[in-house]
Amino acid sequence: MVTLVRVRILLIGSGAREHALARALTLDPATELVVAPGNPGTAQLGRTLPLDVLDGAAVAAAARDMGADLVVVGPEAPLVAGVVDAVRDAGIPCFGPTRAAARLEGSKAFAKEVMAAAEVPTALAHVCTTIEEVAAAVDAFGPPYVIKDDGLAAGKGVVVTDDRDAALAHARACLTKDGGDPVTDGAPAVVVEEFLDGPEISLFCLSDGTDVLPLEPAQDFKRLADGDAGPNTGGMGAYSPLPWAPQDLTEQVLERVARPVVHEMARLGTPFTGVLYCGLALTSRGLRVIEFNARFGDPETQVVLARLASPLGELLHAAATGRLGEVEPPRWSPDAAVTVVVAAHGYPGQVRKGDSVSGIDAAEELPGVHVLHAGTALDGVGNLVSSGGRVLSVVGVGADLAAARAAAYAGVGRIDLPGSQHRTDIAAGR
Ligand code: AMP
Ligand code: GLY
Repeated sequence: MVTLVRVRILLIGSGAREHALARALTLDPATELVVAPGNPGTAQLGRTLPLDVLDGAAVAAAARDMGADLVVVGPEAPLVAGVVDAVRDAGIPCFGPTRAAARLEGSKAFAKEVMAAAEVPTALAHVCTTIEEVAAAVDAFGPPYVIKDDGLAAGKGVVVTDDRDAALAHARACLTKDGGDPVTDGAPAVVVEEFLDGPEISLFCLSDGTDVLPLEPAQDFKRLADGDAGPNTGGMGAYSPLPWAPQDLTEQVLERVARPVVHEMARLGTPFTGVLYCGLALTSRGLRVIEFNARFGDPETQVVLARLASPLGELLHAAATGRLGEVEPPRWSPDAAVTVVVAAHGYPGQVRKGDSVSGIDAAEELPGVHVLHAGTALDGVGNLVSSGGRVLSVVGVGADLAAARAAAYAGVGRIDLPGSQHRTDIAAGR
């Protein structure tokens, strides 16, 4: 007889990334899941808990009340707010970096300092606190201009443009908003960077503060419209694996990026535990880091976890408890996965909310298709409506990228959301 040991997990977040995490965690029948604040999709997989997820004490209390064996923090805002610190202080294993370690994502200037110390290849950059400094840096690099808000901006703080006036206008907007950064003594800062050519990849590396375990690489589509036109967004689609990438890509990223950064963070006295999201460009001059995130990427998680063939909970628990060196490396399905984001009218600007969302069941009747919720809610009478910018992530899994892509787009074809937008070229021709 097999005795089932219950593993209680509290998952923090409410996007399609968290729905994907919830789905992977509950594939293990031992998992008992609570999601806070969750969404109508995660509600089908576990209990939903209304909670202020930026309040570390409240999250720690909720974890204690439910007898959580593990807390998994999805989004960046609670990480930067120190939720992981509060949960760990309560003696509960927590997957995610402390507030101090999350600065790798929370401050682009700090990330640049860590990379310089660890000799990690990245774009040359100037951290500027005045518009005069920005103008000088912009003219030193020449076009295309890359201007980044130093702080968190949900993937929308970066402008890449050939238009010098537009570059300076974005810098001015960043410099005049509230909030600062300790690297620049509290002044709002802008990072002006050298332009990196070449395809982008995302590689998630789990870390327990010492050891590093890579997941499979994926590619994200950041621009709103087909052909990489339009503004940057949080991400409009993704696919995995990357058949075109060099065979030794993961090993290169581990050796040249992830391990040196994890080592440097430990040396600084702020060990990095959780997922180090390495956003990279494969440039004509070699691998370069574009950015780090201190969390799983959205929508890449939706495709990476669709291919994971071993239990996710074990990996996350091992990372949270300093035992990553002891676990079996993850196993991967040979299948490919593609996700297409269905966004609301107006995204990434002023989004329209409250539109009726239908067709999810019909999409999921298709072989290889599942639909993950992000910006959805139930209205007063229990109908599903849109409530955010990225509303759904439709995932297709198939024997190769062409099959996975066909499945994902067949699924999108069955979704009805008035005024919705999606790209039609995710994973096309790969
Ligand atoms: P980030 O928030 O730093 O990931 O930037 C968002 C997006 O802007 C990236 O995914 C790239 O597509 C683009 N980007 C950022 N930095 C650069 C750069 N130095 N050169 C070219 N594109 C960049
Ligand atoms: N897919 C980009 C991000 O999660 O930041």
